[in-house]
Amino acid sequence: MALDKLKKEETLAMRKRLIGQSCRLFYSDDPVKIVRARGQYLFDEKDQRYLDCISNVHHVGHCHPSVTKAAAAQMDLLNTNSRFLHDNIVLYADRLSATLPERLCVFYFVNSGSEANDLALRLAQQYTQHEDVIVLDHAYHGHLKSLIDISPYKFRKLAGQKEWVHVAPLPDTYRGIYRENHPNPGQAYADTVKDLIEEVHRKGRKISAFFAESLPSVGGQIILPQGYSAKVADYVRSAGGVFVADEVQTGFGRLGSHFWGFQQQGECFCPDIVTMGKPMGNGHPLACVATTVEIAGAFTANGVEYFNTFGGNPVSCAVGLAVLDVIEKEDLTGNATRVGAHLIDLLTKLQTRHQLIGDVRGAGLFVGLELVTDREKKTPATETAALVVKRLKEEDKICVSTDGPWENVLKFKPPMCFSMEDAELAVQCIDRILTDIEASDLKLEKDDI
Ligand SMILES: Cc1ncc(COP(=O)(O)O)c(C=O)c1O
Repeated sequence: MALDKLKKEETLAMRKRLIGQSCRLFYSDDPVKIVRARGQYLFDEKDQRYLDCISNVHHVGHCHPSVTKAAAAQMDLLNTNSRFLHDNIVLYADRLSATLPERLCVFYFVNSGSEANDLALRLAQQYTQHEDVIVLDHAYHGHLKSLIDISPYKFRKLAGQKEWVHVAPLPDTYRGIYRENHPNPGQAYADTVKDLIEEVHRKGRKISAFFAESLPSVGGQIILPQGYSAKVADYVRSAGGVFVADEVQTGFGRLGSHFWGFQQQGECFCPDIVTMGKPMGNGHPLACVATTVEIAGAFTANGVEYFNTFGGNPVSCAVGLAVLDVIEKEDLTGNATRVGAHLIDLLTKLQTRHQLIGDVRGAGLFVGLELVTDREKKTPATETAALVVKRLKEEDKICVSTDGPWENVLKFKPPMCFSMEDAELAVQCIDRILTDIEASDLKLEKDDI
């Protein structure tokens, strides 16, 4: 039985006519129409299977039966808003609390990463009574107006930087201002934030928050140097501000070794606010802000109710609980550690054979392969990255995306059930395509001579 209601061309034509054109498709020249999915696989209208290296949202695997069953059962029983007393919201908050440091023990449930970051901004500004925000260069924190304002990745292309927003250098030890050869990049990059705070103070302004992803993704899968976050938190807190860790992409064991990305910075570091989203509901819109009693208390003290119609409803919380159960039962964090290490190892070996690979980095199943046309100059190989993505889709039925300021970083963030064999297949195919591209580049050079 056909699973689609329209022919592919009809769907495409209707989409062009009815859906805002700024909502872009993957592979816009020849989009893939997906009609069903399971685990780490997507299936198109002809039942062609694609290996999915893109869908970090479908964290425990597409349409995981435990998650869909939990959602359907709760949907069949009751779905209300969180103004009625219900077990699911408190049981879920309690489970999340067990994964976090003790001081992050108050929760607000929302429906998207953007809503979570917008609320984090309000919490920080209310608690500190300051306005200004420091963000990392190239960051993206969401699509609401407040978040476009604190997302250099977006505001650079739009109205520009607001006077209350300050941009710190991305702590990128591959191509940033301090690199692998620096004796203490964590301290050096943290000091750039200290300098920025001093500059803000000289203008008579005050810092409410520092926002950063625990492993900047849109920035190009950047691993924060050790010691960076704790030092920045010290500087920001001394200025009366708070540290917001955006775990929308990096949370729920994605990075393998730790349940939360910020934990990679060591036990001595704990943010004041953590925002989470994407993987939390395995595709169901579910997101959250976790914070301290003091920050939540200041938010309550303004006397205004926080009401979110859908946030924390019984169905969303049933889904969230089921996702946590699957992560535990199937040891998906362990799988991310093992398969991610294997993937990084294979890609690193590939780097010895392909000049086009400038850097391999990441943690768990959150891995970046940076392509460059010149290793010394680190010139971004943007077109080649796009070509690899296209050929992987067309020739091998593997879906991979690109990221980074120059879109030259191939990004792997598959469902967490991604296997060793999946990793090996993806690397073999990349190897073949890069070999091909290098051979044709060489031929072009020869022809030029
Ligand atoms: C780091 C980060 N924060 C926040 C968001 C916004 O989340 P959402 O799209 O669920 O609103 C995103 C989305 O891509 C993100 O990558």
